[in-house]
Amino acid sequence: MAPCQILVLLLAVLVLGLSLPRSDAIRINKVKTRTSVYVSPEFVLEPGSVANKYFYNIHFPRGHIAMKYFNAEVIDEEGNPIPLYDTYLHHWVLERYYAQTSYVESSGFEDNKDPKFKIVRNSGLCQDNVLGQYYGLGSETRKTDTHVPDPFGIEIGNPAEIPAGYEERWMLNVHAIDTRGAEDRMGCTECRCDLYNVTKDGQGQPLSPGYTGGLQCCYDGTQCSVKQGYNGVKRSLYLRYTVKWVDWSDSIVPVKIYIFDVTDRTNHSSGPSVKHDCRIEYNVEPCSTVDTVNNQCFDNQRAMVTMPTGGYIVYGVAHQHTGGRGSTLYGEDGRVLCSSIPIYGQSEEVGDEAGYIVGMSTCYPHPGSVKIKDGETLVLASNYSSSQLHTGVMGLFYILVAEYQKN
Ligand SMILES: *[C@@H]1O[C@H](CO)[C@@H](O)[C@H](O)[C@H]1NC(C)=O
Ligand SMILES: *[C@@H]1O[C@H](CO)[C@@H](O)[C@H](O)[C@H]1NC(C)=O
Ligand SMILES: *[C@@H]1O[C@H](CO)[C@@H](O)[C@H](O)[C@H]1NC(C)=O
Repeated sequence: MAPCQILVLLLAVLVLGLSLPRSDAIRINKVKTRTSVYVSPEFVLEPGSVANKYFYNIHFPRGHIAMKYFNAEVIDEEGNPIPLYDTYLHHWVLERYYAQTSYVESSGFEDNKDPKFKIVRNSGLCQDNVLGQYYGLGSETRKTDTHVPDPFGIEIGNPAEIPAGYEERWMLNVHAIDTRGAEDRMGCTECRCDLYNVTKDGQGQPLSPGYTGGLQCCYDGTQCSVKQGYNGVKRSLYLRYTVKWVDWSDSIVPVKIYIFDVTDRTNHSSGPSVKHDCRIEYNVEPCSTVDTVNNQCFDNQRAMVTMPTGGYIVYGVAHQHTGGRGSTLYGEDGRVLCSSIPIYGQSEEVGDEAGYIVGMSTCYPHPGSVKIKDGETLVLASNYSSSQLHTGVMGLFYILVAEYQKN
């Protein structure tokens, strides 16, 4: 809200008299959400090519603040939004880390072993470098709501938490696939190894037998098969991202971020240090017996995860790829905590591209109404259409949890 709008509101409160409840007046005083729009470094794509870039120390709001919103989209040099059928946004991921003040990051994937560089993971239960992001979406970016409702916020930049000699920085990983002129657009977006003519992964290791599609076949610099004679220009693209935040204050209730993965196979026999095996991707095999009533069939994956500490869900959203039919998070007793359904595009317009997931529905439970108990085991279910093969799909669920309610 612009300062003049706040002024108008304040004047309206005064003009309407003092009969308004006091809490409304307080709420108006608190509205100081700020918005910053930034543009990532460029990545260059030509028909069929793939960029998987790690941009370190990106522009980001500084100071002790509460994040309220984050979103992004791919644009060209003139700032025009690019449709998914030209440049498929496989994913972008925003990660928080501490770096020694003098540290200059390399341009590849930084592993967490260098003491000059420490990833600050979310509270999710996958481990090491897996799914530790603060935010992350893919093709659904344009129509997925990410705002954190009042009075909650994602606390960042607290000087008391940043180790001496370090500073807080942010990394943006952008994975985009140029499918202009592609022989098989959907196959390229699903990273089919045959279309990329790939037999070794990005580290030069042979693919495991039976690996037919997924991130190991569409790493940075790979090339998907394009129709002969197709001519498309090489172009510079950018991720434009928008952050909304408020200055930190005691009136904000902090939330924890959890990301669950339907491929997570917790090893309960490994003792007190439970091991989570989060594979991020899986394949949906085409069904053999087609349901004759609907002429459709579905693949349902499930995972169980035990929350060390519970709290109140304030936001929830799933992440799925094309073919997704929705995902649900259940409590131990089978109650639905949140259900998130894909929105498929229906036209040629940017943000509504036919056949692509252009948004995911979200959950904003009434404050205090959806509670997870300490130590509760949740069940995550991810539902895909299995009328045809889908490789490299995902079944993630992202929730924000407040450990207490505001009095
Ligand atoms: C696929 O890769 C092999 C070697 O890895 C190469 O000999 C062959 O020409 C490639 N095919 C195409 C269509 O690029
Ligand atoms: C589970 O953990 C135990 C102890 O660390 C290990 O011996 C076992 O192989 C693991 N099982 C699987 C399926 O990874
Ligand atoms: C999967 O989605 C389909 C289509 O929306 C629905 O008919 C089916 O009941 C869902 N299956 C499960 C287990 O949720």
